[in-house]
Amino acid sequence: MTAPASPRFRRLLVTGGAGFIGSCFVRDTLARRDGTTIVVLDKMTYAGNRANLAPVVADPEQAAHLTFVVGDIADAKAVAPLVAGVDAVVNFAAESHVDRSILDPEAFLRTDVMGVHVLLEACRLEQERARKGDRAAAPRFLQVSTDEVYGSVETGASREGDRLEPRSPYSAAKAGGELLVNSYFVTYGMDALVTRGSNTYGPYHHPEKLIPLFITNAIDDQPLPLYGDGLQRRDWLYVADHAGAIGHVLQNGRSGEVYNVPAENERTNRAVVTDLLALLDKPWSLVRQVEDRAGHDRRYAMDGSKLAALGWTNGMKFEDGLAATVDWYLAHEDWWRAIKSGDWNAYYERQYAARLASSKEAGR
Ligand code: NAD
Ligand code: DAU
Repeated sequence: MTAPASPRFRRLLVTGGAGFIGSCFVRDTLARRDGTTIVVLDKMTYAGNRANLAPVVADPEQAAHLTFVVGDIADAKAVAPLVAGVDAVVNFAAESHVDRSILDPEAFLRTDVMGVHVLLEACRLEQERARKGDRAAAPRFLQVSTDEVYGSVETGASREGDRLEPRSPYSAAKAGGELLVNSYFVTYGMDALVTRGSNTYGPYHHPEKLIPLFITNAIDDQPLPLYGDGLQRRDWLYVADHAGAIGHVLQNGRSGEVYNVPAENERTNRAVVTDLLALLDKPWSLVRQVEDRAGHDRRYAMDGSKLAALGWTNGMKFEDGLAATVDWYLAHEDWWRAIKSGDWNAYYERQYAARLASSKEAGR
C-alpha cells in the first residue's frame, strides 16, 4: 500500500466544523490519515452538533488528530491563539439558513461579516509574524461562500466575475464576508481565496433545510410545506463532493481567486419532492402549498469550468446521493429526533404554523 500524498497545508483550523458541511470536511479529511491535524472552532449554535464528529471520536487514530474548541469566530481573543498554530484556516462557520435570516437578520451580520473580519485580522497578524521570521509562512485563508451571492439567476450560469446581487439577509451577509476576504488579498497581499458552493444535501443535514425537513416529516406522515408554486430551481450538490472540492481548492487553488462549486444537478423543488416521496413510498397528498418565502430566489446556476480546470470532478450522481441520504435518515432517527425537539418546536411554530393553517393542496 502506498502512503497518502502529503498535503501542502497540514495543520488546519476548521471553523464551523460541527455543522453539516464542515463536519463532513473534518470526517473525510481525517479518514484519509495523511498526517493532517485539525482544530475545530465552533460556537455550537443550534446548528452545531458534536454527534456529527462521532465517527472521528470513535477512531483513536483520527481522534488524536482532532482538537475541538467551543468558541465564536467573532471573538478575537479566542481566535488569535488558534490561528497562530495552523497553516490554513477554512471558514465554514456561518448562520446558514435563509428563513432564519428573514426572521432575525442580526446574528447573520455578526457571524457572516464580523466573524470573517476577526478571522482575517488574526491571519493578518500571523502574516506580520511570518514577515518578521517568527513563523515559516503566513496562513492561507479559505472562505466557504455560496452561489446565493449571485442572486436569482433567471437564465444561463453565473461565472466567478459576475456581479453579486444578493437578495436575502443571509446572502447579503455572505457577500459582505467574501468581499472582505478579497479586500485583504488586494490590500494586504494575504493568501486568501473563496469557494461558492451550490445547494448541498446529504447525511447530517440539519432538518430545517428542504431535503431533510421533507424526509423527516414524511417519515412521520406530517405535512410537507412547499413554498409558493414549488417551481424554484436549485443545483443539488452531494455533501462529500462539496467538502472534497473545498479541500481541493485549499490545496491547489490560486490566492485571490474565487471558485464556483456547482453540481450540474438542477431540479425544481417539486421534482426533488417527487423523488423523495417515491424513495420513501409516501403519497403526494402530504405536500401542502404554503405562503412563499419573502424575496424567494427563483433559480441558482453556476458555471463550473474554472474548478474543472483546477482538476476537480464531482463523484456522486443525484439519484444515488438522494437514495443514500434517505437511507441515512431512516437509519439515524436518534440523530434527527434529538434535533427536532426542544427549541426546534418554537422555531417550527414560528416558521410554519400560520403557513400550514392557511395552506392548500399542492396539486401535481
Ligand atoms: P450549518 O448551519 O450546518 O453549520 C454552521 C456551523 O457553524 C455550526 O456548527 C454552527 O455552530 C457554527 N457557527 C455558527 N456561528 C458561529 C460562530 N459565530 N463561531 C463559530 N462557529 C459558528 O451550515 P452548513 O450548511 O454546514 O454551511 C457551512 C458553510 O457553507 C456556511 O458558510 C454556508 O454559508 C456555506 N454554504 C452552505 C451551503 C448549503 O447548502 N448548506 C451551500 C453553499 C455554501
Ligand atoms: O444555494 C446554496 C444555499 O443553499 C446555501 O448557501 C444555504 O446555506 C443553504 O441553506 C441553501 O439555501 P436554500 O434557501 O436554497 O435552501 P433551503 O433548503 O432552505 O431551501 C431549498 C428550496 O426549498 C428553496 O427554494 C426554498 C424551498 N423550501 C425550503 C423549505 C425549508 C420549501 O419549499 N419549503 C421549506 O420548508
